[in-house]
Parts: sequence; C-alpha cells; structure tokens
Amino acid sequence: MIIAAEQLSPIFGAKISGFDLADDLTDETFEAIRQIWSKAGGLLVFHGQKLDIEAHIAFSRRFGPLFGEPGEASLQETVSRYIHPEHPEIYRVSNIVENGQPKGRKGAGTYWHSDVSFRETPAQASILYAHEVPEVGGDTLFADMSGAYEALSEAFKALLTPLYAWHDFEVAARRQYARPAVIEADMDGANRARHPVVRTNPQSERKSLFVNPGFTSHLYGFNADESATLLGQLYGHAARPEFSHRHRWRPGDVVIWDNRSVMHYAVCDYGEAPRYLERTTVISDRPL
Ligand SMILES: [Fe+2]
Repeated sequence: MIIAAEQLSPIFGAKISGFDLADDLTDETFEAIRQIWSKAGGLLVFHGQKLDIEAHIAFSRRFGPLFGEPGEASLQETVSRYIHPEHPEIYRVSNIVENGQPKGRKGAGTYWHSDVSFRETPAQASILYAHEVPEVGGDTLFADMSGAYEALSEAFKALLTPLYAWHDFEVAARRQYARPAVIEADMDGANRARHPVVRTNPQSERKSLFVNPGFTSHLYGFNADESATLLGQLYGHAARPEFSHRHRWRPGDVVIWDNRSVMHYAVCDYGEAPRYLERTTVISDRPL
C-alpha cells in the first residue's frame, strides 16, 4: 500500500491525506505510517478522522503501552479528574463545563514542554484527536528538537552531551495549576526525574535536545545562575521559527507527536469558544 505524505515544513512534520485511522490496519500499513512519522521528525497530521474511543485507543496501543491502561502508570494525580471515567487511557482537554464539572483540563500545556518529561519513563507518542475546536484560535505549536540540536556547533554539542537535567512536575504546578487543584502526592518525588540533556531517539537514531521550560527545573551539578543561563539559551534557540510548526486545528484532526524529539505549546487565546480534544499518551523507554 502506498501512503501519500506531504511535508509541513522544510525540516519537520508530515500530513497524510485520504487515510482512515479507524480501519483495521495491517502491521505493514502501521509500520509504514510509523516510518513516515519518524522520518518527518516525529510530527504527523491527519484530517477528517472519525475515531471512536475504542479505535483511538486501539490505534495508539500499536505504538506501545499507554499511560492509564491496566497495569501501567497513570498520569499524575492532579489531572486524574480530567481522565475519561470509563477509559483511563483517555486524557481530556477542554474548557467546557457540564453539570458544573469540567469536561477536561482547561488551558492544558500553555508552555513549551514534552509530555510527562518529569517521569523516569516519560511520553513517547501523544495522539491528540480534535472533536470540537474554535473557528479560530487554540493552535498548537511544535518545535523540532532534533533539528534544533543538529543546528548547534560541534563545540556546543560536545559541551551539552555529558549533561543531565532534572525535570519536575512542580515547575508547572507552581506556575500553571491553581494551588488547591494540585494533589500533594504529585510533589513527593514520583514526578521528578533526571534525564540526559541530549537524548537519542531509538527509532530515528537522531539526537535531540531534551529540556523544556514547562518541566525542567535545573541542570544537574550547575548553580542556579549557570543553569538558568544555559537553559535560557537552549530554549531561545529551540523556539526559533525555523524549528517550529503551528497547527491550526479542525474538527476530526488527529495529530501524533513524538515527545522524544518534539516539544509543543498549546496557545490559549480562544476565550469561551468551546473546545474538546481527547489524548492518548504512549509510554517511552528511559531516555538515553
Ligand atoms: Fe502537552
């Protein structure tokens, strides 16, 4: 089967048209999609999908085990109220309130981050499906962390390669979550992990920067000023327009990003216009 893919930008991202993810995909077809995703730097867009929850989970499961599935870790407790009550693999993102209860997490991820990077085994693919989105606004920005790494000088790459950084949910909790909403158990160390600053994606075999302003607290062994200066330099570099793609959502879009090689930023600029998306999150190996 030949799958046609179109580039989203000169350096990363691809779009596949005329394809129904709800179909029973053969292993060969799934592998072809995964190859396109990997070659495109870990960002893949599908329009016009009609996925029910079971199909969304079944497709996602082919990438690996999912956060929330029986026998696997769940996402942090603070977001447990936004998990689908019958499908613990589904994390809901929404500003809609039904019967006094939020239908999902409002304003999720309004900062550059790699999903769940504060865990020893963070996220691999995130697969986000748009049910209802505003006419305009609510875009998601993606940054190609492999492209950003490769554009650095050899001397700077050599400086970064032996370094480690701590990632901590508390960084986001302090800034992004109202204090009463944060579950204290999330702050006791279970959501804190040390990862290499440069990791290798085992699938594409490309190296990428693996630090993000949303969750990275500091560089291991550095003092606070040194850490802030170097991380600030890396964040400014990685967020340059040359390494980014901005996705404008339509209902029925499925976007798959690889958190090992891509960071993302959800723009919260749409006021009260209703927005509802569902996400599955594949668990990664330990970053190396
Ligand atoms: Fe996210």
